[in-house]
Amino acid sequence: MKYYILFGPPGAGKGTQATYMVEKYNLHHISTGALLRKEIAAGTELGILAKSLIEKGCLVPDEVVEGMIESEFKTVTGVKGFLLDGFPRTLPQAEALDKILAKTGTEVTATVSIMIPDEMIMERIKGRALKEGRADDASEEIINTRITTYHDQTEPLIEYYIKAGKYNEIDGTGTIEEVKDRIFSVMDKF
Ligand code: AP5
Ligand code: MG
Repeated sequence: MKYYILFGPPGAGKGTQATYMVEKYNLHHISTGALLRKEIAAGTELGILAKSLIEKGCLVPDEVVEGMIESEFKTVTGVKGFLLDGFPRTLPQAEALDKILAKTGTEVTATVSIMIPDEMIMERIKGRALKEGRADDASEEIINTRITTYHDQTEPLIEYYIKAGKYNEIDGTGTIEEVKDRIFSVMDKF
């Protein structure tokens, strides 16, 4: 079983590219953001907690997303691997992932990191806001908090995966098609 991490700042194109990657490589896509939005829509206790944090552009507690990931690993079968989108997002989450995988004698296969500059994050998310109406896309203030949260809490993971020899960065600017081709040429190596 392969375990790929799709890394990148908000609006980098993780969800967009994940749809092509899962099809080409027979992977199960796990977006912690999408799972949390499902909980919010269902009005669960977890959803109520997540809503207040997501709407401010903050992260939900590590244990919440770690539990979600482990349960997906246990329940999904019939694929060649998993594509983690938006997880891990903090150092404790990365360490927890390593521990979860070690229980079954596996490890992260590779990290594919989609990089775009902060100005482009704002532009892409504002574009999506017109189509999708996500609560965390609703204002420049929230988007800026998400960008800061990314730089403070998530960016340190780059060093973590470089040290582990599992970091592959691709340029996320350009058309969706161009970015897809860059990702596929990295993924083909694994
Ligand atoms: P999450 O849903 O993961 O949001 P995110 O990481 O902020 O990323 P986005 O989904 O906004 O962007 P994306 O990279 O998927 O880009 P997309 O393909 O849509 O998380 C939401 C929240 O949940 C977090 O803020 C946090 O509160 C919580 N959460 C989630 N995971 C967590 C975790 N592990 N720990 C704690 N909390 C967690 O593209 C964006 C737009 O650009 C689209 O309109 C798209 O059409 C367009 N686009 C894409 N590619 C291109 C291109 N090449 N050219 C032009 N436009 C493009
Ligand atoms: Mg997404």
